[in-house]
Amino acid sequence: MKMHLQTTDPTAAVTSTMSADLWNSAASVLDTNWSYDHMVPSRRLYPHQWSWDAAFIALGLAYVNPTRAWRDLRSLFEAQWPDGRVPHIVFDPLTAEGDYFPGPGFWNVPAYGNRPARGSTGLVQPALHAVAAWEVYRRAASHGAACAHEAGQQLKWLYPRLVAQQEYLSRSREAGGDGLASIVHPWESGLDNSPSWDSAMAGVPADLGLLQRYQRRDIEVADAAHRPTDLDYARYLGLVLNYRDGGYGDADLAHRHAFVVECPAFNAILAAAELALVHIAAVVGADPMAHRRRARQITEAISRHLYDERSATFRARDVRTGILSPARCVNGLVPLLLPDLPRDQVEAIMAEAASPRFGLPATTGLPVPSYDRTATDFDTLRYWRGPIWINVNWLLRRGMLVHGYRNEAEDLRTAMLRLVHRSGHYEYFHPETGAGIGAPTFSWTAALALDLLADRSVPAYARAA
Ligand code: DGY
Repeated sequence: MKMHLQTTDPTAAVTSTMSADLWNSAASVLDTNWSYDHMVPSRRLYPHQWSWDAAFIALGLAYVNPTRAWRDLRSLFEAQWPDGRVPHIVFDPLTAEGDYFPGPGFWNVPAYGNRPARGSTGLVQPALHAVAAWEVYRRAASHGAACAHEAGQQLKWLYPRLVAQQEYLSRSREAGGDGLASIVHPWESGLDNSPSWDSAMAGVPADLGLLQRYQRRDIEVADAAHRPTDLDYARYLGLVLNYRDGGYGDADLAHRHAFVVECPAFNAILAAAELALVHIAAVVGADPMAHRRRARQITEAISRHLYDERSATFRARDVRTGILSPARCVNGLVPLLLPDLPRDQVEAIMAEAASPRFGLPATTGLPVPSYDRTATDFDTLRYWRGPIWINVNWLLRRGMLVHGYRNEAEDLRTAMLRLVHRSGHYEYFHPETGAGIGAPTFSWTAALALDLLADRSVPAYARAA
């Protein structure tokens, strides 16, 4: 494999001029991408509201427009299903069906609560929202009593909805019976075409005829070489149709659905959300104990079921076969978020992150890529099969701070900021040159740049009180 890594000095400081430029450009991306009551990830490629995007976006909006941070989270949770699931896309009724595929007509979700039919998808995404809500609150609380009061009211509204979201994922999606939540579609992971899913996806029928019946729009607005292949896309559509035709029900998933997988990042975020709920419960006058207990249970289940002793890495598990994926992907680094992870597993994650497979900034000058750089199928352009994404690096840095790796966390923060300053607020980045790829004004990249610039890291901030 050719390696032409950019060799920026990772210790070079982020200067105040860089910071000011980046702050202003990030704030302006968030202004441009705001649509009356929600943020779009990007105007052309993703013209609706996405679930885990909204969580990352709130983290940055907290600095420049907290009212919008709360509004965006509320818009998302106003579309929550009666069973507690928070849909992965909330469709904007003012956006034409033809502007995004698969749009409202394809998902054909029935009316629920006060929502008209076809208002959302029936899938979910990682439940980072409690973490986001807690961070937006924390930011407001440091700005005096009036701000804290308003933020407290928002937390009160959100708390039962966040709890319902956790309960849906923990109960209805516990398809493996081992205390972990399963995803039923790669889109639910947020890491759409990660090699993590390849082995499980190999068992999913690929009906290429679906691509004649339905037309992909993503490859009309983005370069096809950067996007998932047609084969993957046909499987994505087939999985949606199967889940849709079962009424988006979750009973007996492992037997009647072709893709049922436990992702280490999805579950680590679920446990991190329980830790955030410990704090939120204390503010709204609820009992934090159950959240603390759930966080420990999920952490233990991740540690027991998703860790491969031989390679000392966390991997995704195919619930239907019980087999761990052979691919070493960035989602295996995300359990670092969890304060109660056993020490040997914490050290294993740090060793994997520093190895040539991921190469922390000290060796590459760049944030970590989405996939093992040394793998023969490492792909520098294609979505989650190699490129660098800021959101997962943000999670990794948070995990480093949880476990006291302050220098590594600072190098990673600097590398992320330098990359975004140099290349722009792109959706993702080439893992060798650092060039921007995908959507050029991407909301979560801008939002997380703001958070990294403000750098309010507090060692105990992710721990249960
Ligand atoms: C897309 O449209 O590619 C999204 O990632 C699905 O959520």
